[in-house]
Amino acid sequence: MSNISSDWLNQLPKIELHLHIEGSLEPELLFALAQRNQIKLPYANVEELRQAYQFSKLQDFLDIYYQGADVLQQEQDFYDLTWAYLTKCKQQNVVHVEPFFDPQTHTDRGIDFATVINGISRALVDGEQKLGISSKLIMCFLRHLSEAAAFETLEQALPHLGQIVAIGLDSSEQGNPPEKFSRVFAKARELGLLAVAHAGEEGPPEYIWTAINDLQVSRIDHGVRAMDDQQLMAQLVTSRMPLTVCPLSNTKLCVFPDMAEHNILQMLDLGVCVTVNSDDPAYFGGYMTENFVALAESLQLSKDQAKRLVENSIEASFAEDARKQELMALCSEFSQTHI
Ligand code: ADE
Ligand code: ZN
Repeated sequence: MSNISSDWLNQLPKIELHLHIEGSLEPELLFALAQRNQIKLPYANVEELRQAYQFSKLQDFLDIYYQGADVLQQEQDFYDLTWAYLTKCKQQNVVHVEPFFDPQTHTDRGIDFATVINGISRALVDGEQKLGISSKLIMCFLRHLSEAAAFETLEQALPHLGQIVAIGLDSSEQGNPPEKFSRVFAKARELGLLAVAHAGEEGPPEYIWTAINDLQVSRIDHGVRAMDDQQLMAQLVTSRMPLTVCPLSNTKLCVFPDMAEHNILQMLDLGVCVTVNSDDPAYFGGYMTENFVALAESLQLSKDQAKRLVENSIEASFAEDARKQELMALCSEFSQTHI
């Protein structure tokens, strides 16, 4: 462990920019929702389900993650899921969040788009009012599905554009390059939505290039494979293109064999706008604090680096300018009072 305590990291004001709300479904809530909705699970209990969370690559995880989402059926289920995540954020002093949701995971099971987004949005509004956590919601397209299916999802989102700030792209990366979705991203940008995309998690640096050039994203989700391409690294540094990095996710899915080999702090010190995030905390062993603690334990994270990572998140966020200024003030007040 570096000279930072987990308590200091927990109290540090934090911002989360890469969080799949369905990936925050803890086994306990999953079982409770299965019971509420009378769904039979292929696991006897919470412990048995947790035992199944052993992955050697992204697809191993995705198979179990989509299966887990089956218990989400009613608007209240989506509310409860989101509220549980926000409660965790409050405990960890996460003060602004930009969650993803995957509508196709639900609409393909016959759940209405409105049921999903209204449940999530209602909890986010309550989170702001009751917990002081500001938020912006991002709708992801599943890249293993077709371009036509993504267009259909964008159509379903039209009555809800006021509830969404951006679109994203997730699911199985290899073999599903960003450019498969160039036209649907162009349409979404015409509608005034911002764009982000998962790229360079398992896929090659070329996918980061096409996410930037073809999809015109404002941020890259993951992007850790950028270090394989020096020209790309130079471009990321000069453009300040943010990368939403997820350390515990990367070790759990074997993107890096060990946290000691993670490249996030090297990239930080090279001037890349890297940020720390939890991705799917219920599956990967931790929320925001645990991700920072992992960096302190394995990579000797310093207080200065921790603070710069948070400042990068504020810079990269889709919050309004006034809120960004408040967040910067919170962060500098913390570093002045917690030396
Ligand atoms: N969906 C949920 N988590 C994901 C990840 N880490 N990569 C791609 N798709 C995802
Ligand atoms: Zn992700």
